[in-house]
Amino acid sequence: MTTPHIEAPAGAFAETVLLPGDPLRAKYIAERFLEDAQRVTAVRNMYGYTGNYRGQRVSVMGGGMGIPSCSIYTSELIDHYGVKRVLRVGTCGAVLDEVQVGDLVLALGASTDSGVNRTRFGGQDLAAIASWPLARALDDAARAAGHPLRIGNVYSTDLFYSPLPGLVDMLRRTRILGIEMEAAGLYTAAAERGAQAAALLTVSDHLVTHEKMSVAQRQQGLDAMIEVALAAVVA
Ligand code: HPA
Repeated sequence: MTTPHIEAPAGAFAETVLLPGDPLRAKYIAERFLEDAQRVTAVRNMYGYTGNYRGQRVSVMGGGMGIPSCSIYTSELIDHYGVKRVLRVGTCGAVLDEVQVGDLVLALGASTDSGVNRTRFGGQDLAAIASWPLARALDDAARAAGHPLRIGNVYSTDLFYSPLPGLVDMLRRTRILGIEMEAAGLYTAAAERGAQAAALLTVSDHLVTHEKMSVAQRQQGLDAMIEVALAAVVA
């Protein structure tokens, strides 16, 4: 069975897929956290794996950068492989004083400069939201792990290098917890297909203080996030 962007046999994916942006992060998650992980697709080197976590079948696949790439993989996983839950695991930038590098953010809602949701919603403003069962499971797992989440709105931008004047001030005024590039598209692609989605993000950099995660912090922080994500999906 193949789709335009995935080449894997029918049934190759679990009902739950963790979706980091970077395919090498998908490989790392499969090798470090899953038992009996098998690579199931590698079209364009966008690796996908299926294995077990605490006895339950879980997949992990790269989704690329940005709403278009993430939406393609999410749509094909749900439409062709019976995937029912897509959990993005990634990084975000912060703008608020109280949000620090290393914090975990759950994107309960995702605002955006992208036109994709207006295209889908007749030019009107759709509220792109995380699926509640997945959001609640993430909150429970994070509390149990001693990593409480910051939960609220994120900003999914098409422009990593945005020319918009006053962008950071606007994001601060509206209490945006993180800037990233996928959640608003992911949420609607999943919702249109009756699947669940959420995005769990580690703050990797701060746009006001210019603080960044060190290489060691990045590895530790990302491992902590993956443990919360996996605990939530097998709960
Ligand atoms: N902008 C967009 N995406 C990001 C950022 C950012 O500052 N940091 C991590 N992902």
